[in-house]
Amino acid sequence: MSPRGASRRGPSDKSSPKILVLSGPNLDRLGTREPHIYGKTTLPEIHASLADLARSLRASVECRQSNHEGELVTWIGKAGDEGFAGILLNAGAYTHTSYAIHDAIKGSPLPVVEVHLSNPEAREAFRHVSVIAAACVAKVAGFGSDSYRTALEALLRRLAS
Ligand code: DQA
Repeated sequence: MSPRGASRRGPSDKSSPKILVLSGPNLDRLGTREPHIYGKTTLPEIHASLADLARSLRASVECRQSNHEGELVTWIGKAGDEGFAGILLNAGAYTHTSYAIHDAIKGSPLPVVEVHLSNPEAREAFRHVSVIAAACVAKVAGFGSDSYRTALEALLRRLAS
């Protein structure tokens, strides 16, 4: 692949930043999974809405979901080399347990925003601790599927400043 090709566009290209949107375990079940907590919007619907929003802001998103911690670690680790300018990360329950994801974020040159549909701190005690928060630049939580949109807008503003 040519280092001059579009897929090698670096994070320094502020004119049309490419954002990686990662969702972790069980988020593929959105729509039917505990809708009283997470809402009825499906993950493909969230992804489509983010793509529209990004386009309107002269950016783009690539959205991925995995139930596997190692896959998320690999994606975070490679995102800089793949030309992404930043990452939105809803790590699901790995938020509360994964030092491997914390280390991957720490090792990445990219700004990572922690995203949650619910407000974990208003829920069960085990959700009150995020082991990834300290490695992220910011967190958006509690707005349902709008958390992703709000996080995308704020990250793009930060990248443009
Ligand atoms: C979540 C909150 C986590 O505690 C939970 O394990 C999830 C979803 C959220 O988006 O609200 O899977 O990350």
